[in-house]
Amino acid sequence: MINNDSIINLESKIIEVKVLGDDRGLLTVIEENLTIPFEIKRVFYIYGTQNEVRRGFHGHFKTRQALISVAGSCKVHLDNLIRTQEVILDSPQKILILEPNDWHEMYDFSEDCVLLVLASHHYDSEDYIRDYKVFTEVYSECLK
Ligand code: TYD
Repeated sequence: MINNDSIINLESKIIEVKVLGDDRGLLTVIEENLTIPFEIKRVFYIYGTQNEVRRGFHGHFKTRQALISVAGSCKVHLDNLIRTQEVILDSPQKILILEPNDWHEMYDFSEDCVLLVLASHHYDSEDYIRDYKVFTEVYSECLK
């Protein structure tokens, strides 16, 4: 089922967060519904990814996500059927918000990359759209 709220914003957003810190080091804060525009139901992190690996390859029906490369760097390919975009995540201060209708693929992981993902919903394999043809069918309906 498509959550209509999710298709209002077709642009993926990059949020720059503040660095707090002093001579002891740095600190960055993320708060649900403040820094990022949703409640956080799930957190996972992707790490130890081989450099030549490309992963993701899906969109969602409901889930919104916030991606932060808390160490190292990676790139994200986005496609919301209106435009495609390549985003470089190379700073713990940069948060990429993915809407459900953002088909995404992650690649060019640095060896030390730890990609933190905050998600708006619990894990549900039924919420994944892993077939690009189905993804275009589902979301091109919304663009009419
Ligand atoms: P997968 O979705 O294939 O990762 P990616 O899209 O980044 O390539 O996830 C890998 C495995 O982990 C797959 O068997 C599903 C499982 N998984 C969970 O059980 N819970 C989760 O929250 C996530 C993200 C994945």
